[in-house]
Amino acid sequence: LFAGRVEFIKSAPALKFLPDPDVPEIAFAGRSNVGKSSLLNALTGRKSIARTSVTPGRTQELNYFEVGEPTRLRLVDMPGYGFAKAPPKVVENWRRLVRDFLRGRVVLKRTLLLIDSRHGVKPVDEDMMQMLDEAGVGYRVVLTKADKIKASELEAVTAATIAAARKRTAAYPEIIVTSSEKKMGIEDLRAAVLQDSLV
Ligand code: GTP
Ligand code: MG
Repeated sequence: LFAGRVEFIKSAPALKFLPDPDVPEIAFAGRSNVGKSSLLNALTGRKSIARTSVTPGRTQELNYFEVGEPTRLRLVDMPGYGFAKAPPKVVENWRRLVRDFLRGRVVLKRTLLLIDSRHGVKPVDEDMMQMLDEAGVGYRVVLTKADKIKASELEAVTAATIAAARKRTAAYPEIIVTSSEKKMGIEDLRAAVLQDSLV
């Protein structure tokens, strides 16, 4: 499926700009700079269909990508959270947009919650998990940037992340370990996204 059409369609700053809810959607969530856009690129095998950035907090909208011709799936690159220096108004807007999206989007099948391997699950990630649990949106926890740490450290953070996920109601009990840079875990992720899009 990802070998065919993948196209950026729009940035939606508010729910009224979302596309018609006519195909399944999978969303990417996580702290700013965790690697959401990079993972979306790796998943679809595109170099830069989703804009990546070294400046955290660049994406403030829901960025929509269509997959398939005719469209069979939409991927949603969500605005990142938890960056320092975010003005309270930006944080408040983010919260409202994300909460309303998670609660109201009937075609949202699953969310991928990305966690940076170097940092593990932080309090801001627990807040996001809470929002997902409360909205009843199932999510898979995905470790990113696995190429950045040693194997022993990766083992420890994987165990800790699995433990954090298992405390949650809407999280999958297993996690996916990835590196967009080294294309690690990408096939597993593709299989998971395809499976989730069919539920
Ligand atoms: P926001 O849109 O600001 O929320 O960030 P994002 O989560 O979309 O992160 P993005 O994909 O833009 O990546 C942030 C930075 O991390 C970029 O400099 C990427 O090149 C880098 N990065 C992303 N994934 C990986 C990875 O797997 N390995 C390494 N080494 N770097 C990565
Ligand atoms: Mg991004």
